[in-house]
Amino acid sequence: MGLLSGKVAIVTGGGTGLGRAIARRFVEEDARVVVCGRRVEKLQETVEAVGGPPENVLALPCDVTDQAQILGLVKTAAGKLGGIDVLVNNAGVMRFGELGKADEHTYELMMRTNVWAPWRFSVAVVPHMKQRGGGSIVTISSIAGLKAMSGAGLYCTSKAAVQVISQTLALEHAADHIRVNVICPALVEDTELAVPIVGEEGMEEFYGKLRPLHPLGRNGRPDDIADAALFFACEESRWITGTVLPVDGGRMLTSNRPKI
Ligand SMILES: NC(=O)c1ccc[n+]([C@@H]2O[C@H](COP(=O)([O-])OP(=O)(O)OC[C@H]3O[C@@H](n4cnc5c(N)ncnc54)[C@H](OP(=O)(O)O)[C@@H]3O)[C@@H](O)[C@H]2O)c1
Repeated sequence: MGLLSGKVAIVTGGGTGLGRAIARRFVEEDARVVVCGRRVEKLQETVEAVGGPPENVLALPCDVTDQAQILGLVKTAAGKLGGIDVLVNNAGVMRFGELGKADEHTYELMMRTNVWAPWRFSVAVVPHMKQRGGGSIVTISSIAGLKAMSGAGLYCTSKAAVQVISQTLALEHAADHIRVNVICPALVEDTELAVPIVGEEGMEEFYGKLRPLHPLGRNGRPDDIADAALFFACEESRWITGTVLPVDGGRMLTSNRPKI
């Protein structure tokens, strides 16, 4: 019997990167998983990558910046799978640029996707988790939410804000046995996150520049984050809530100062 046997999980942004790895890991542990995102073809790729019986993973398109779509997805997921036990707030976007040059559109995009959506999604699943006697919400933030980074101010702000929202939810729903925890990855390869910034063709160079910043000697892999998400989702973390956990190859131990 797997660690998530009998559990139903929603993974936002499940069509690529970390979300796909989390969905795969959860299904390996016998969860039934709903993956959502805007691009249906990516969700379908996840269904194929996860494998196993088709009833174990359900692809439901959803734009997480749209309240009606969030509510519709939660209702459909609970109706089709009989309840909701776990939510992984994973969908996110990243843009770079100095604060002095940032525009309103970029601000709105990052705050709506990285902060507003996890808040609204979490609130929407709470009644379903209460019906099951509890649940686990896992938010994928970033080390950018722990440390100001020149040129990434709005992204850092959004990731810091979502940590505090998650911790507040942890306090407000502890009595409902709903735990809320946050994972802060450093750079993880094999995702699309930096494509809008450096382009497909710039990804290898981007990864190469960041590799030396991680004391454990490599960038992250999506499975590194999926294992941490599994821990927070399952009963092994039953007495842990409101935690903000860097999963970062030691990067938070280092300073921003270049080696001299
Ligand atoms: N990769 C890293 O180094 C890293 C480090 C720290 C934190 N993170 C965080 O990890 C999370 C996952 O990112 P990733 O690295 O796996 O990058 P990714 O491959 O770009 O995944 C982001 C996912 O979010 C979905 N998404 C974006 N906007 C959405 C919207 N409006 N509605 C629904 N889905 C939306 C995307 O799907 P669609 O475009 O199809 O909607 C995509 O599947 C993000 O929150 C990111 O900030 C990543």
